[in-house]
Amino acid sequence: MVTSRIVDIEGRDRYVLPPHRAIFLGREGPGEELTILACALPVQSQVFENIVECFRKDGPRGVPYDYFDKFHGFMSQCSNIWWGKNLVSCFLPTVPGLTEKLESGITVLDVGCGEGGASILMAKQYPNSRFIGIDICDYAIQQAKGYSIDAEVDNVDFQVMDAHLMPDEWESKFDYVLASDSLHDMAHVGVVLRKITKVLKNGCHMSVLEVNARSDIVDNMSMPFASTFYTNSLFHCMTVSLAADGGEGLGNMWGREKTTAALNEGGFTVIDESVPEGWFNIHYVCIKSDRSTSMTTGRSPTDSATSTRSSKPDN
Ligand SMILES: C[S@@+](CC[C@H](N)C(=O)[O-])C[C@H]1O[C@@H](n2cnc3c(N)ncnc32)[C@H](O)[C@@H]1O
Repeated sequence: MVTSRIVDIEGRDRYVLPPHRAIFLGREGPGEELTILACALPVQSQVFENIVECFRKDGPRGVPYDYFDKFHGFMSQCSNIWWGKNLVSCFLPTVPGLTEKLESGITVLDVGCGEGGASILMAKQYPNSRFIGIDICDYAIQQAKGYSIDAEVDNVDFQVMDAHLMPDEWESKFDYVLASDSLHDMAHVGVVLRKITKVLKNGCHMSVLEVNARSDIVDNMSMPFASTFYTNSLFHCMTVSLAADGGEGLGNMWGREKTTAALNEGGFTVIDESVPEGWFNIHYVCIKSDRSTSMTTGRSPTDSATSTRSSKPDN
């Protein structure tokens, strides 16, 4: 701590942690979003050897979710800090007409909801609306169910479901979709987006949160925490996607250009793009394009146009 210039040493044996550095070491205070990033280390070290295996020519493509028993807890800590401060007060109001609709009562889908923090907060705030969170991980959904019981909300439902396989009965069921930090983890983002256009009503909005990065690494050289996010991606986001059925392995640093192109190709128009204060993500406010209404069911993962990698990638 001293040689890293975090703690100062006075004389030989007096150690001092200056307040301006202390705020980045605690779980509360202005530095908490940064502190929590350090908690990625135990998650990453769990799969270190498995990641190395993926770099071997005959190694596996990626490391599947089952290997990450600490990930969802880490992720929900990261997200909940920000949701708690901003979801109701700043985030939802940036979607045109949404808070009024939530107050009067609509149906909302949270895609890749993790442990459900955002849906539970919305359910508490908007008792006339109904919220459904889906996630491919059973463990995350069990946690989400437990947290919703603790929060005493009965207008939220969590289901284990692969977003590529949302059922046909859900056609035009939802008035708003939230995809927070989840699209890049999907095996085939194009398939998932086309599914979302099926389940979202015409003229309704989707909020997508993705890391505020560019798609070309050269443009991320001066991005704060770029190396942290690329590392998180290598040790989690990219690898879980690659491990899934021919997954694309976009990773959390797929960046603005690729995200926008995927949203457009998937049947959405981005009507607003902003970086919420104090957060690492871009909020893409999307509306279902007119042309997407004539689209048929998403193609299967194997014939997806965005599925560019069928063999072992050059990590
Ligand atoms: C980075 S986490 C984000 C979780 C949560 N939305 C948040 O903001 O904290 C991505 C989530 O997407 C889920 N996920 C990945 N692939 C999925 C799929 N095909 N269908 C549904 N959920 C998926 C993961 O299990 C994980 O919980």
